[in-house]
Amino acid sequence: MRRSRNHCLTPQWVCWQCNAFYHRHLLTVAKTQTAYFCSDCGHEASKWAGQCAGCGAWNSLREAPSAKSRNTKGGRGGGYTGQRAEVQSLGSVAAETTARKPSGLDELDRVLGGGLVPGAVILLGGDPGIGKSTLLLQLLAALTPDLPGLYVTGEESPAQVQLRAQRLGLAGASIDLLAETNIEAIVQAATAGKPGVLVVDSIQTIYAEALDSAPGSVSQVRETAAQLVRFAKATNTAVVLVGHVTKEGAIAGPRVLEHMVDTVLYFEGDAAGSDGRYRMIRAVKNRFGAVNELGIFAMTDAGLKPVGNPSAIFLARGGAPVPGSAVTVMREGTRPLLVECQALVDLSHLGNPRRVAVGVDGNRIAMLLAVLHRHAGVVTADQDVFVNIVGGVRVTETAADLAVLAAALSSLRDKPLPQDTVIFGEVGLSGEIRPVPGGEERLAEAAKHGFKRAIVPAANAPRKGKKIGDMQVVGVQRMADVLDALS
Ligand code: TYD
Ligand code: MG
Repeated sequence: MRRSRNHCLTPQWVCWQCNAFYHRHLLTVAKTQTAYFCSDCGHEASKWAGQCAGCGAWNSLREAPSAKSRNTKGGRGGGYTGQRAEVQSLGSVAAETTARKPSGLDELDRVLGGGLVPGAVILLGGDPGIGKSTLLLQLLAALTPDLPGLYVTGEESPAQVQLRAQRLGLAGASIDLLAETNIEAIVQAATAGKPGVLVVDSIQTIYAEALDSAPGSVSQVRETAAQLVRFAKATNTAVVLVGHVTKEGAIAGPRVLEHMVDTVLYFEGDAAGSDGRYRMIRAVKNRFGAVNELGIFAMTDAGLKPVGNPSAIFLARGGAPVPGSAVTVMREGTRPLLVECQALVDLSHLGNPRRVAVGVDGNRIAMLLAVLHRHAGVVTADQDVFVNIVGGVRVTETAADLAVLAAALSSLRDKPLPQDTVIFGEVGLSGEIRPVPGGEERLAEAAKHGFKRAIVPAANAPRKGKKIGDMQVVGVQRMADVLDALS
């Protein structure tokens, strides 16, 4: 009888961890050896601990069958076998040109870096109801008959998928459908059917027979995803996995999942917003293209429609200018995008005034208000500050700093900014205004949409004699210059 590594280390009658009676417990635990894995970095530990010794993350260790106990059967990783591994020089390796298959959904192709790469594994994460299943069904329909698709649904019945297809006007599309959650059966069906694209909706519902834990658990997600990655590489099939997200917005399951796949896409959007129609797809990891590229869709009653001119939509402002609004040009990947930044600064009745940010980093707001106080003498310590980026867009770059400050100042002074003014630039801790990448492209995008005046970092202003449309560009270097330009 083998003794469990984790429990019952000392011969005693009752297990100190689970209180199971010694003999019976040993019989049950000895079958599978368990270990603890960090859900962030994958570090393996034999005992549970509050903090991962590998990456220092707290409360991230989860119980799972250890790799050793599983590998002894399959022979994988079973130690050095005496075979010589071949070392080759990098120069002698023939580069494979990755032939991409454009999907026909332009905005998705933009995010993927041109299209689907055979053998690539893509993970698509997003909130429930944001449109993951809809997008993938549209993707498969757009790819047929060039690239036949197999849609594995673990969440919905075939009838439900058919209902959605009808709604999308794709009822007659020749897409193979498989309602199955067992990974072995899925891989078997995919191997037999030889699809060009395999969509698994969702990885959290798929389970492997060999593991005891429930679908969606760390070990199941890790194991089933690993099998699908192996299938993709072995058969050169593009695989798209749908991943649920947690309350914090990260893909549920182990972080290693994101390490395993080639591309990680996040579906974002403001489903609960005023309009809530717009959906954005962002690549946060892409082995075959650029990251942070943004694809923009609108959810209509006939599915997701690409948005060709997003700036025009996010800027749809009507009526007279109002205080607390500033337009900035953000740049996601290669595309400049005009967005409106709103702020409300109001006298606080709390001991600790509130700083609430939607679409921008909350810590950044606190920092900007501190710079505003220290270097421009504007006090907001007794004010609540709310900042929002209109349209559910999330700004991840620092170029929106100046617009946030301008909107906050405008709200504080109850004085609207001129409607034809656009403002962007990064604010440094010592009150300096720092340049941002792609200044000219941003200015050109603003000029295209009829803006006449731009307040930008001095280093981003076009050189003397060079004009961008009929735009008047004001270059600023310090916070004092910004206040002058805004007054
Ligand atoms: P779905 O793709 O099921 O979301 P997910 O797979 O990410 O959970 O999208 C469902 C939502 O989209 C649902 O709220 C209804 C809406 N929807 C439309 O507005 N129009 C449509 O044509 C379709 C198919 C869905
Ligand atoms: Mg779904």
